[in-house]
Amino acid sequence: MSERKSIHGEWSSQLAFFLAATGSAVGLGNIWQFPFIDGNNGGGAFVLIYLACIVLIGLPILIAEVTLGRRGRESPVNTLRGLALDEGRSRAWVGVGFISMVSGIIILSFYSVVAGWSLDYLLLSLRGAYAGASPDRVSRMFAGLTANPWRQMFWFTLFLAVSLWFSARGVRAGLERAARIMMPLLFALLLLLVVYALIVGDAGAAFSYLFSPDFSRLDGQAVLLAMGHSFFTLSLGIGAMMVYGAYTPNNVSIFRVSIWVAVADTGVALFAGMAIFSLVFAKGLAPAQGPGLIFTTLPVAFGAMPLGSLFGAAFFAVLVLAAWTSAVSMIEPTVAWLEERGWVRMRAVLAVGAVVWLLGMVLDFSFNIWSGVAWQGRTLFELFNFVSSDIMLPLGGFLIALFAGWMVSERSLRRELGVSRPLLRLWLLVLRYVTPVGVLLIFLNALGLIRGAL
Ligand code: PHE
Repeated sequence: MSERKSIHGEWSSQLAFFLAATGSAVGLGNIWQFPFIDGNNGGGAFVLIYLACIVLIGLPILIAEVTLGRRGRESPVNTLRGLALDEGRSRAWVGVGFISMVSGIIILSFYSVVAGWSLDYLLLSLRGAYAGASPDRVSRMFAGLTANPWRQMFWFTLFLAVSLWFSARGVRAGLERAARIMMPLLFALLLLLVVYALIVGDAGAAFSYLFSPDFSRLDGQAVLLAMGHSFFTLSLGIGAMMVYGAYTPNNVSIFRVSIWVAVADTGVALFAGMAIFSLVFAKGLAPAQGPGLIFTTLPVAFGAMPLGSLFGAAFFAVLVLAAWTSAVSMIEPTVAWLEERGWVRMRAVLAVGAVVWLLGMVLDFSFNIWSGVAWQGRTLFELFNFVSSDIMLPLGGFLIALFAGWMVSERSLRRELGVSRPLLRLWLLVLRYVTPVGVLLIFLNALGLIRGAL
């Protein structure tokens, strides 16, 4: 087990670590992205592939990140520096830590904008703004929000400010507390929504859509999308889970908790999908709506249901809670690194927050004032999302898998994980061979090098 000590503090228990890591994993990726990616790719078969990716790619890297983090006990940059030194490897591995810090900051900038929309919709729901509204009116409502840079700025700034406040309070009083308050509330509200959707919605249609596979609609592109999403949804490749691992007490079983985090994360995505599609199908709406699914289609469904505004508000509250506990983990690698360089935590948080805010403003404007600015057919918002989620994240994950699988000695890993040799070997086998090949495919696909080849 790790002999080092974290200067940032530790989670108070195994449960606290589980809640914080699940808080990081469960986010907009589960509730906003998963349903629409799934919808765009034909449902059932996509879910199966996604589950396979979680088990074969996501989980092994999750375990690797937490293990490396706990061994190093520092920010990803310094953890990688320390471990590379311990194992007699090149110092260049530190670069992976830097890539991860940059991705975290970029991801948080667009994440905050989408979470800001959710806050706006929470208020709209409470005001009954879409009760009985036609699809056309709801679409105009969404367009009205994104067209207004100041309204968007207000909400994303508010979202970011609350995230920074929790971050500034440190590991236990901030990150852990946010998870302890928000995650149980999120689970309870989600459960309520699922029950509601099962009663008023078309659960049968949603179930068969999500779970009866139609392989004819599955192509190579969808497989690669599923792999990419398994990364994003488990917060991998940007050092978030590594730094959370650095705060994990020695007596926590990394294997066990990681499995539970993956189960909880997948469970939330599937439950959210069930709730959303039950409502959408009950109103005869189309599931394949792209990113606008929950902001343009879903409100129409809620608006036509009994107590729709109230449950709509609960839905957007779930989104915001999920986003907050993820947001704090995205900047933690950078905040921890700055602290290790002698910065006071508050100052580190403010500095990182300022950069995220400026990037967020650029994205805000990309929907209105700068909506004409595009590069290779992508708006700035799409570009940020693409570079961070599709390129930097898999790249980070690939390198982390290589580092943990090939650069760290089996003995060190075994000491940290404390599992039986056969289990360790099985994990290493997947981590060394299956995972990197899978990630390489996602990556080449993102760069457009193998598009259509599968
Ligand atoms: N896992 C989060 C989600 O699904 C996103 C995230 C990515 C969080 C990377 C932290 C780091 O929404």
